[in-house]
Amino acid sequence: MPETRWDRLWTDVHLATMTDPSLGIVRNGAIAASGGRVAWVGRAADLAAPPERLASEVIPCGGAWLTPGFIDCHTHIVFGGDRTGDFRRRLRGESYAEIARAGGGIMSTVRATRAASDEDLTLRAAARAGELSAWGVTTIEVKSGYGLDLDTELRMLDVAAGLARSVTADISPTLLAAHTVPPGYARRRDDYVRLVLNEMIPAALDQGHATAIDVFCEDIAFTPDESRAILEAGIEAGLHGRLHADQLSDLGGGALAAAVGAHSADHLEYLSPDGVQAMAEADVCAVLLPGAAYTLGADRRPPVATLRRAGVTMALATDANPGSSPITNVGMILNLGCILFGLTPEEALLGFTAAAARVLGLERDRGTLEAGRRADLALWRVADPAELCYWMGASPLTSLVKDGVPVRGSKGS
Ligand code: NIG
Ligand code: FE
Repeated sequence: MPETRWDRLWTDVHLATMTDPSLGIVRNGAIAASGGRVAWVGRAADLAAPPERLASEVIPCGGAWLTPGFIDCHTHIVFGGDRTGDFRRRLRGESYAEIARAGGGIMSTVRATRAASDEDLTLRAAARAGELSAWGVTTIEVKSGYGLDLDTELRMLDVAAGLARSVTADISPTLLAAHTVPPGYARRRDDYVRLVLNEMIPAALDQGHATAIDVFCEDIAFTPDESRAILEAGIEAGLHGRLHADQLSDLGGGALAAAVGAHSADHLEYLSPDGVQAMAEADVCAVLLPGAAYTLGADRRPPVATLRRAGVTMALATDANPGSSPITNVGMILNLGCILFGLTPEEALLGFTAAAARVLGLERDRGTLEAGRRADLALWRVADPAELCYWMGASPLTSLVKDGVPVRGSKGS
């Protein structure tokens, strides 16, 4: 009889541990959790005793597949209003950039977000987070960026952090005060950059929720010089750097992310070969967002083959937001990642687990199934993990486990 009994042991299960490029598959595996952490993972045949003697609770899974809880490392799920008006305009042929320049786009969501109460923002964001968790997501990065004034940016970060109280996911808030230059600052952009540098970053640090700083580097948003100043200040203050880079044009965003030591450059439809090289050398992750490319009808794809050859870590995320990616369906994003961007199913699934954990600086805590990692687990009714990318239908999630405790679904059902 072993000295310590595990809290829970999942048996009759196949594991995608995400520990190697082939997903670290263990068929006929078992996984145990104690105190919210993975206590043991391996082949069922290697268990030291019959399951009932090893754990207080044994959960047979009927041959299901088990992955780490998914990590959505790029979202904007806190916002007021919607962008149905922009949607109609784009369908009539106006571009995302044209709509933004005419005062729609991000600014229309800023107006709605400023006008919304905390309760309204929370209720609606929690519903979106719930949609993600129905797809096995247990960690969500959430950006500010629809406030663009000190009060509303802090309010957004507070609402984001507070979501952890109502949803079964950990929240990783990011300060995106540099999402676009608000209209009052159009002729004095430097004043807005100074506001971000001198007031918003220090206030966000005092508030204590944000773990990362992000900037939208684009000609409808911030120049590379402005982006660099803001990223450097945030990183200097201890935040992880992120950059919306090279989405609509090549402004050298990937190389900028590399130069400042950012964790990731995101979007990357216009990333140049030099940018890929710089990202590879500085070990910057690429975050691919096919929901935005699809929704905006982008004419370019990120250079996935070049990124792959250069060994750049590729994460995949929903980019859930009201304008460019009104999508909380992870299965659709996995599918678009493969079909639109040419990822393999393995790359897509690693992109929502191990790679996404790296983007958030959480790779030693989650994203793989290994002893000591957080026991965030998703159980799927599929015959092969590639099915998660193949179907574009309802979620095949059968059960979700957060910190070692089943929170959704029933035993092995
Ligand atoms: O990641 N590119 C900039 N930011 C968001 C879109 C935000 C919006 O349109 O509301 C994105 O696609
Ligand atoms: Fe985004």
